[in-house]
Amino acid sequence: MAAPISIPAAQRGDLISLVDLDLLEIREIVRRGVGFARREYSGEPLAGAVIGIYFRKTSTRTRTAFSAAALRLGARIIGYGPDDLQLNTGETIEDTAQVLSRMLDGLVCRTAGSTAELRALAEPSGMSVINAMSAHEHPTQALTDLTTIQRHLGGIDGTRVLYVGEGNSTAAALALSLTRFERTELHLRTPPGYGLEPHVREQAERYAKESGSTLRETHDMSELPPAVDIVYTARWQTTGTSKPDPDWRAVFAPFQVDEQLLDGYPAAWFMHDLPAHRGEEMTAAVLDGPRSIAFDQAGDKMHSAMAVLEWALTSRI
Ligand code: CP
Repeated sequence: MAAPISIPAAQRGDLISLVDLDLLEIREIVRRGVGFARREYSGEPLAGAVIGIYFRKTSTRTRTAFSAAALRLGARIIGYGPDDLQLNTGETIEDTAQVLSRMLDGLVCRTAGSTAELRALAEPSGMSVINAMSAHEHPTQALTDLTTIQRHLGGIDGTRVLYVGEGNSTAAALALSLTRFERTELHLRTPPGYGLEPHVREQAERYAKESGSTLRETHDMSELPPAVDIVYTARWQTTGTSKPDPDWRAVFAPFQVDEQLLDGYPAAWFMHDLPAHRGEEMTAAVLDGPRSIAFDQAGDKMHSAMAVLEWALTSRI
C-alpha cells in the first residue's frame, strides 16, 4: 500500500468551472484519463485521502464514476444524498464549508443551483471542491468527452463537432473546453430560446479566436456543416431543470438526431452524455448503432474522474 498522502491545503485544486483551468491543465487531465483507461497506474496514489461525494440531484454516471475512481485510487469516500446535511435545516453554506474543509480532502458536489454555491464551499481552501454538475456548467462531463475524443480520434486539435440540442450545462462545458484547442470547430444547433447562455457563448468565442477555432450557433436545422467528426446530442430534459414553455416539445422536435442526419456524416462518431431517451433527442437506431460511442463515453467518466481527483489532490504539490 502506498504511503498516505499529505497535501498542504493551499496547494489543492478546485474545479468549479472550466475557466479555472488553463489549456495545459486540460490537456494533462485528458492525457491522464487516457492513461487510466489503459490501466497505466499502480498502487493506491490517493491512499489516506477522504473524499465527500455530495449529490443534491439524481445521478447514475457521475456519482458512480467519482466514487469508483476514488476507491480505485485508494481514497475512502463518504456519500451524502440530497437530504443528509444540515443545509436542509438552515445551516449556511459558509458554515458547512468551514466544517467539511476541516475533515475532508475533497468534495465532489452536484448542486441544485449556481456555481456560486460551489465557490462558497471552496472558500476555506482546506479541501478541493469539484463541480459534478451545476445549473450552468458540467465541467467534468466535458473532460470526459475530450478523453473519449482523444481515445477515438487520436487527438483533439482540429476536431469538428456538431452539437444538436439544448444549450445546457453539458453544451456550455463543451463550448468552454473544445474551443481552447487549436483549429477545432463547434457547430451548435440549439432550439430557439434554448441556446447557450450569452456569457458562455461570449467566453467560448474569445477562446476560439485565441486558438484559431470556430464556434457557430444557430437555431436552424436546415443549415448544417458540410463535414464533422462527431455528432453529439443530450437529453431534452436536462437533469434538475424544467422548461417554462408547456409546448417546448414542439420546439425541440426538429432537433432529433436520426439515421438520415448521421448518414450525412459517414465517418462521424455519435456521442451522448446520457441518460438518453430513445425517440426524443435521437432515434434508437442511432444510439444503439455501430457508430455510437455513447457507452464508451460513459465508461470514460470513471477514467476522467480518476484524472480529475489525481489533479485536484496531488498535482499541485
Ligand atoms: N452525464 C451525466 O452526468 O450522467 P448522470 O446524471 O447519470 O451523472
